[in-house]
Amino acid sequence: MPRATIHFPEGFYWGTATASHQVEGRNTNNNWSVWEQIPGKIVDGGTAGLACDWWGGRWKEDMDRAAETGQNAHRFSVEWSRIQPAPDRWDENAIDFYREMARGMIERKITPMVTLHHFTDPLWMYEPSQDGNSLGAGGWERDDAPELFAKFVKKIVGALKEYVNLWITINEPNIYLTGGWLGGAFPPGKNDPKAAMKVATNLIKGHAAAYKIIHELQPDAQVGIAHHFRNFSPARRWFLPDRILASTIFKSFNNGFTDPLATGKMHILNYRTQIPEAAGTQDFVGINYYSNDLTKFVLDPKRLFMQLGFPPDALLSPSGFIANLPEGMFGAIKWARQYGKPIYITENGVEDASDLFRPRYLIEHVFQVWRAVNFNWPIKGYFHWSLVDNFEWERAWTQRFGLWGLDITNQIRVRRRSVDLYAAICHENGISSAMVEEFAPQIVPLLYPE
Ligand code: FCB
Repeated sequence: MPRATIHFPEGFYWGTATASHQVEGRNTNNNWSVWEQIPGKIVDGGTAGLACDWWGGRWKEDMDRAAETGQNAHRFSVEWSRIQPAPDRWDENAIDFYREMARGMIERKITPMVTLHHFTDPLWMYEPSQDGNSLGAGGWERDDAPELFAKFVKKIVGALKEYVNLWITINEPNIYLTGGWLGGAFPPGKNDPKAAMKVATNLIKGHAAAYKIIHELQPDAQVGIAHHFRNFSPARRWFLPDRILASTIFKSFNNGFTDPLATGKMHILNYRTQIPEAAGTQDFVGINYYSNDLTKFVLDPKRLFMQLGFPPDALLSPSGFIANLPEGMFGAIKWARQYGKPIYITENGVEDASDLFRPRYLIEHVFQVWRAVNFNWPIKGYFHWSLVDNFEWERAWTQRFGLWGLDITNQIRVRRRSVDLYAAICHENGISSAMVEEFAPQIVPLLYPE
């Protein structure tokens, strides 16, 4: 077998990503904290609870772990409902908490990237619910949502700009929207296409307002969104309806949310609108890539005529949630290049408590990033999801995405083998054939064909 080491450019960011509600614990003032209490919404009745107890200070030990294992960047999110517990109130202690956290990262030589909105909204954006069994009206359907968000952004960016200049305004607007307003499993649990388009528009307006404010406060800031990319390809290439459907869904789900940041024009399914203030509001493209889908046309309007599935021969993660399709990572980067901006892989990972699947997945995906780097495409960093097991939304604790495992009964972290693999990648700033032999010998012939 050839001995080889592939390398990334100097200064490449190797990090992990987290989000406030998933790791902090004790969040009681946002849409998810209410959603978790509604019977049937979360698998096994799970709740975020203490999560990884970052709010109790355990971010420090986790950042020690990250630093000791060679990571030089971390993407985390700030919790709006803590910083602004009521429309007319700021919590300076919460702001100090995030300042300390950002400073703590820098002290550990970890560059912080901050997400300003990662799925959670302050409860006060919603009216009290009528039946006590859902969230009331409001949230990002409110006309003033972009303005409210901008006000929050101004406050927190002003407080953190001493330590942070990499900003994600909104995490995965497309997932937030399909999850919450198009029949998905997120709060507020609606299936209302008209309201969904309003939310889509408001999210992009909120992003545009945030972009402007961040640059006013910090001219050298780098601002983008974290886009969940999926390559909807036709299940049956010979069948025209599959091809038309796949291309429509692809454009809506992907370009529907990123084109407006370039052109100010939004086009999702048959909805079109102009958001001129959004034109030219991204300094980089953030890509969250996990897997890809095959798209099949079915005669069922209730399912939007669509059935999604993984390729029949794909390797599936332990719970079947993710198919290992690493070439999709290359495809995602290739797609992102159309915007002519630097690219960050802001999330990539797999749920795997056994850690038998993850090493292969990790190596193959990083390898695809390297393929793209080789074309001199401007890829600046890779953030693995996630550092430690955390509250995985509606699937709660049934899905374990951490390099470190977490025992939620006692907060003990369990070092998975992938910790050592990722540490080796970070230290080497690349992948060596020896690493592949040690951690995923079955893919040696794939990566190093003789
Ligand atoms: C992404 C989310 C992130 C995490 C991963 C597994 O869609 O941004 O919070 O849940 O999936």
